Amino acid sequence: PVGGIVPLCREAARRGIGGVLLFGVPAAKDPLGSGAYADDGVVPSAVRAVKRGVPGLVVVTDVCLCAYTDHGHCGVARRGPSSRGYRIDNDATLELLARTAVAHARAGADMVAPSDMMDGRVGAIRAALDGSGFSDVAIMSYAAKYASALYAPFRDAAGSAPAFGDRRSYQMDPTNAAEALREAAADVGEGADIVMVKPAFGYGDVIRAIRDALRVPVAAYSVSGEYAMVKAAAARGWIDERSVAMELLAGAHRAGAGIIVTYWAMEAAGWLAAEERGEGSGAAGRSRRT
Ligand code: PBG
Ligand code: ZN
Repeated sequence: PVGGIVPLCREAARRGIGGVLLFGVPAAKDPLGSGAYADDGVVPSAVRAVKRGVPGLVVVTDVCLCAYTDHGHCGVARRGPSSRGYRIDNDATLELLARTAVAHARAGADMVAPSDMMDGRVGAIRAALDGSGFSDVAIMSYAAKYASALYAPFRDAAGSAPAFGDRRSYQMDPTNAAEALREAAADVGEGADIVMVKPAFGYGDVIRAIRDALRVPVAAYSVSGEYAMVKAAAARGWIDERSVAMELLAGAHRAGAGIIVTYWAMEAAGWLAAEERGEGSGAAGRSRRT
């Protein structure tokens, strides 16, 4: 099930990419997302394979339940009286997320990246990792994760679109900037080593505000819909993919992201190397120089 990942990671390392972020799609899904925290699950298996095959590469794992639950929510969903007809059980979810993070650490992950947006999950994961002897495993939290329409291609690929309701009870309202600072500060208080903003494009103000307010590295995650839009327009000959991608990535960098998670990583590493050699004049090359 983890077939092609080692050669891909070897190539990533060869191109100088700083690390990889792994997501899993399990063979079977169930109400409590048990595939997420199984030691023989798809992500722990992939982590072991990559660590064995490409020992120098930093391996980060996405920690969430939505790809593993049959209903597609990021947490434990309870049917019952509420305005939505169901509710997400925050605290029951924390326990499962903590188990997931420990399973990834046990497999050899260098860093875990909780993307669920439950309250208190960074603290719960930090405590569980420390309690299991993994105090050296870092946490990169999806601190400001917006309820964006740009995750659709990812959900298609992972089969993780919610079967009922939506993620707006736990992900953030795109019109709200102040909440991002509160979420990021809370995550740092609970032990996050790096905080992430997602999506990346269109959220430069959020990246900058967090960068200026907190003393931790800020990462930006350029999501599947951002990648898809550029790919689709380029396929029609409307825009030049390389120039547009590098311009958008430079924007996230300029806003203050020291780490950028992107589906263009492999290509961008090649483009940056070409620019270092003086070939091409993309915006990212310029911003690196200034
Ligand atoms: C899981 C998760 C998602 C993404 C990263 N982690 C999907 C979601 O929240 O629906 C988005 C990835 C992308 O669009 O590239 N919580
Ligand atoms: Zn999720």
